Amino acid sequence: MERIRSEIIRQKLTTPEAAASFIKNGMTVGMSGFTGIGYPKVIPGELAKRKEAGEDLKITVICGASMGDQSDGVMARAGIVSRRYGFQSNKDMRAAINRGEIQFVDMHLSQIAYWMKAGYFGKVDLAVIEVAGVTEDGSLICPCAVGIIPTLVRCADRIILEVNEKVPAAVEGLHDIIDLDLAPNTQPIMITSPGQRVGTPYVKCDPDKIVAVIRTADENMNAELKAPDDDMIAIAEHIVNFFNAEIAAGRLPNPLPPLQSGVGGVANAVLSQLAKSNLENLTVYTEVAQDAVFDLMDAGKVLSASATSMTLSPSIRDGIYARLGDYQGRLVLRPQEISNAPEVIKRLGVIAMNTAIEFDLEGNVNSTHVGGTSLMNGLGGSGDFARGSGLSIFTTASTAKAGTLSCLVPHVSHVDHTEHDTQIIVTEQGLADLRGLTAYERADLLIEKCAHPKFKAELREFVAESRAKAKAFHALAR
Ligand code: COA
Repeated sequence: MERIRSEIIRQKLTTPEAAASFIKNGMTVGMSGFTGIGYPKVIPGELAKRKEAGEDLKITVICGASMGDQSDGVMARAGIVSRRYGFQSNKDMRAAINRGEIQFVDMHLSQIAYWMKAGYFGKVDLAVIEVAGVTEDGSLICPCAVGIIPTLVRCADRIILEVNEKVPAAVEGLHDIIDLDLAPNTQPIMITSPGQRVGTPYVKCDPDKIVAVIRTADENMNAELKAPDDDMIAIAEHIVNFFNAEIAAGRLPNPLPPLQSGVGGVANAVLSQLAKSNLENLTVYTEVAQDAVFDLMDAGKVLSASATSMTLSPSIRDGIYARLGDYQGRLVLRPQEISNAPEVIKRLGVIAMNTAIEFDLEGNVNSTHVGGTSLMNGLGGSGDFARGSGLSIFTTASTAKAGTLSCLVPHVSHVDHTEHDTQIIVTEQGLADLRGLTAYERADLLIEKCAHPKFKAELREFVAESRAKAKAFHALAR
């Protein structure tokens, strides 16, 4: 099938080298992509070649979330990126950020589109966008991730398209695109259920902005998800038991409100466990549809799912792509300013389930910085969902680094989510329901339910010392 159905756009086909020549030193370049899916795979390599040949080339890169190794990895290793906005999860980019070679600005993913439209990032000189194809009227067919594509099309001065034949053609029609205007003219987002469509399947694009088009057939290089281990399964079981108890107590409806689930192995395991549970007629309103969302849809447990990206482990990707058409009507891929919109998350009463690196006795959560200084990935959408949700759950194993470190600490070394956004905390040891508790009550419950037994005495000692020093109700002394 011809991917480029517009003659005007087909005339812009060129070589990767010629396309990349539009990118000059000092430019701000927006790129498509979200959690290792739908990112440009060829132009970054062309830039790296120029840098390696001695050209002075440094750019600011803005992406909706993380790109795969052909992009974030290649550019980090070549030393092209001076500044990077948005989530990342590439080991070489992470290392360059932690060495101070790339200035990384972490932010809520719902805000990136707004910031770009408002000009907070400055001028976006150029956007490099992967697409599944181009329609007869020159509209873009997004790949398996939408991210900030509509905003890049609106804001960038010039656009380079990478038309990737590896993107399954059946993705066409899964997208639901609306592009919000800035306040005070922002439209309300009229989504009242996850599968509801409120936009169009295509991104309208001014053909004059498109300066070059290249064809590619490179696969996404996202990582394989870890198989659930015993800790992940225990965490998931605690959550399923909690849901059942909340339904029985009348605090949660049955079927449950839409579920959001974060990135990584624990997040995926929680959803996998739901597939084995008695819970039925589930829906998903999330940012990344990982493997388990598709298992749940296949099992008939999830009726509809909304996300901005489908991030599938390579081992299951081809199987899902081959029957992607079956998900039409049940799966919607939205721009991230919609998938992560606090307005919609709040309206739907989403149950947010995100992962912590560590959490503290007051209930504050660190999701991003190991030891307070070493960046892992970034905040992603966890803050959008935790703050807006009807119920906010954070999960982690009780220990890290082969059991040598407690993930429950007196004070987190970096705060991403304050005690006000963390209602339920779960480790393999148990589940702490912090709703309505004072600081000391939270501390006691977290130690009892979530700490690993070998760290409990030390943590209790810390609380006792704090109590002795301070009389105020909120006085876990620092
Ligand atoms: N102290 C030190 N290191 C710790 C730690 C702690 N308390 N807890 C975890 N780590 C380390 C692990 O050892 C591991 O290191 P390694 O890569 O060197 O092996 C790393 O952090 C990741 O931990 P892992 O257990 O593999 O976690 P994961 O794959 O489930 O991911 C997060 C956990 C927090 C990193 C991940 O969920 C994330 O990036 N979250 C923030 C963004 C987000 O929530 N997005 C979703 C919104 S929709």
